[in-house]
Amino acid sequence: MKPFSSSTQAIPQVGDVPQHLAIIMDGNGRWARRRFLPRVAGHKRGLEAVRATVRACIERGISYLTLFAFSSENWRRPEEEVSFLMTLFIAALEAEMGKLHDNGVRLRVIGDRSRFEPRLIELIRQSEELTAPNTRLTLTIAANYGGRWDVMQAANRMVCQDPGKLGHYDETDVAPYLAMAYAPEPDLFIRTGGEQRISNFLIWQLAYCELFFTELLWPEFDAEALEVAIASYRKRERRFGRTSEQLVEQRRSTAVPCTEPVAQSQDA
Ligand code: FPP
Repeated sequence: MKPFSSSTQAIPQVGDVPQHLAIIMDGNGRWARRRFLPRVAGHKRGLEAVRATVRACIERGISYLTLFAFSSENWRRPEEEVSFLMTLFIAALEAEMGKLHDNGVRLRVIGDRSRFEPRLIELIRQSEELTAPNTRLTLTIAANYGGRWDVMQAANRMVCQDPGKLGHYDETDVAPYLAMAYAPEPDLFIRTGGEQRISNFLIWQLAYCELFFTELLWPEFDAEALEVAIASYRKRERRFGRTSEQLVEQRRSTAVPCTEPVAQSQDA
């Protein structure tokens, strides 16, 4: 597999629409509480917003969508809520696996699966296997995922694989071992629910990502809300540590040369 370029080493291709969108889906509990419903009702509605967002990403031509569904720290929630989320995850995989496949979506799950029940582990395996050939959208669900866990599991695997380089590893050595080595770094990160933090999500991969925070609660997020975030993204100047002038120069030097015959000037 050819490694994706690193945003700290080279300027990646930047388009009008993010190639990779990463989302922290926050606010399910508050959405439910405001309606005098149990928190789990918010998670159920959150799944509707997931469906709408997947559809919207396909329509917008986004190639990678990564959703933070359950963090390593979420086990600390009330047992009843954790158990509901696991059941919802199982039900969602059972119900959506075929539909995702029919729509050309590849499903990947990142995170430590060892704490999941066998039924969930098996469903994840089946879904990943079934959808593996699909290329329209890669949907990654981060489940029992933590950014620090990811960096550490990658570092440990790297050292085991190539112990002779101890003391001389660089970022290109660790990158292939990260859980999402199959995807370019996210271009746009959205967090719903009004909080403005990364919460141990993709700490390595977000190095030069554009951040967008919205007060909308996750169950309220839809195609229109995605448009607002993309419109904000389009206005950003992504400099990757360079100056504006350097970016203009780089765009000029990498511009595709015009192959059409140039119109002859009248007085040539
Ligand atoms: C955060 O809201 C949300 C979660 C921890 C769970 C996210 C799960 C879903 C959106 C549904 C299932 C998704 C998949 C992919 C199966 P919160 O509970 O922290 O909300 P609060 O901040 O208002 O309490």
